[in-house]
Amino acid sequence: MTKVAIAGVTGAVGQEFLELLAERKFPATSYKMLASARSAGKKMTFLGKEYVIEELTEKSFDGIDIALFSAGGSISKKYAPIAAKAGCVVVDNSSAFRMDANTPLVVPEINPEKIKEHKGIIANPNCSTIIGITPLWPLHKINPIKRLVVSTYQAVSGAGAQAMEELKVQAREYLDGKEVTKKAFIHQCAFNVFSHNSDIDENGYNVEEMKLVHETHKIFGDDSIAITCTCVRVPVLRAHCESINIEFTNPITPEEVTAIVSKAPGVKVVDDRKNNYFPMPLDASGQDDILVGRIRQDNSIAGNRGINLFLSGDQIRKGAALNAIQIAELLIK
Ligand code: A2P
Repeated sequence: MTKVAIAGVTGAVGQEFLELLAERKFPATSYKMLASARSAGKKMTFLGKEYVIEELTEKSFDGIDIALFSAGGSISKKYAPIAAKAGCVVVDNSSAFRMDANTPLVVPEINPEKIKEHKGIIANPNCSTIIGITPLWPLHKINPIKRLVVSTYQAVSGAGAQAMEELKVQAREYLDGKEVTKKAFIHQCAFNVFSHNSDIDENGYNVEEMKLVHETHKIFGDDSIAITCTCVRVPVLRAHCESINIEFTNPITPEEVTAIVSKAPGVKVVDDRKNNYFPMPLDASGQDDILVGRIRQDNSIAGNRGINLFLSGDQIRKGAALNAIQIAELLIK
């Protein structure tokens, strides 16, 4: 008997929750669909059944077992503790509780054992963190990573359904010679690239960059890894890419990295040098697997301890909804 509530069901991640719950035959006995007052009363069909979307309130979680949250950080901050107090386990997609010492931050392929430490809330990591570190974990276990240099190429889906619509509208407007409409981002995203839209800290890093640093340390349980990161938005709808430079403790070859990464759960090697075929967001979109390629030696690091790679993963799937549903599946187990 598992009663599930989805907070933010009308959003990009909320809609993906539904796809994945259906696709993976999630063993829920009932669903409650929650969004803002704007959507309350609207009807929707899921698995052949009609649901009326309800406004998320303090009473929404009475009798619910698992709540999947993706309605933004401020909603999580307010309602996740209320849901937890009502006896339900929250899997929260926002950043609200990720660095909270009492909240496990989980990537099921890396630290599933942390789930049982939960006190009512389990945090889903940032999308760039999940996509970047899932393929790195099996490497780190056998040859500890000393330093990472990460550059992201992030799809607009991370800013929600509205941002995805904005990219489509802007592309049409731009090609029609019209002035582009800007709402989700301050900069034009169609035919442009800009530094990630999160706030810039005094140290010059934006919040997204520092999330990747802190969350990787927490998930790997290893603060000793030196990490530096540059996060950038690109005009892509829903899959992120990352260029990652890795300095290992001991020598390692691209062939060894390929052999290890190709066996990693949730990862697929796409590394066809002859045909110049490597991970691309169009291929990664809609896929569960993170695509990894361009695996090559970084000869600027002495002693064959450096590797470069490039990856692409669906931001809405593994970067958000899929990771959360995998956590919910482990909770039920
Ligand atoms: P709504 O569609 O009713 O605004 P996205 O990240 O794709 O923009 O989606 C955000 C999700 O969070 C949507 O489902 C949205 O519902 C929901 N949401 C936004 N504000 C609130 C709120 N105050 N209460 C409950 N849900 C909210």
